[in-house]
Amino acid sequence: MKRLNEFVKADDWKNEKHVPAIEAPATAKAGDWVEISVTVGKDIPHPNTTEHHMSWIAIHFVPEGAKLSYELGRFEFSAHGQSAKGANEGPVYTDSRVTVRVRLLTSGTIYATTYCNIHGLWESSQNITLA
Ligand SMILES: [Fe+2]
Repeated sequence: MKRLNEFVKADDWKNEKHVPAIEAPATAKAGDWVEISVTVGKDIPHPNTTEHHMSWIAIHFVPEGAKLSYELGRFEFSAHGQSAKGANEGPVYTDSRVTVRVRLLTSGTIYATTYCNIHGLWESSQNITLA
């Protein structure tokens, strides 16, 4: 039986609109607050309509040498232009961009995963080195 991770797609976010673009410093001081932003559709916008949208972004951190990940945040996007009038007739749309602020005490890797209701699961990662 295949495992779910075999269906998680990855690419360069500059070429593929579904790949989460992680913006975080490459280096930081241990114990300082660090902002991590994740955007889906940073260079190539994702439609984000009632019919086709990003449903969520989750951010994890894996400390160097660790065997488990730590979930930093999970963000649901619930407004996609839907309304009683019909699809794309509503007054609000959520964008697939989030920021989380964390204090890290060790170097490691940030992982972002996201889900498009049409095109499935996507992921990206970025290392962060603490001094
Ligand atoms: Fe999509």
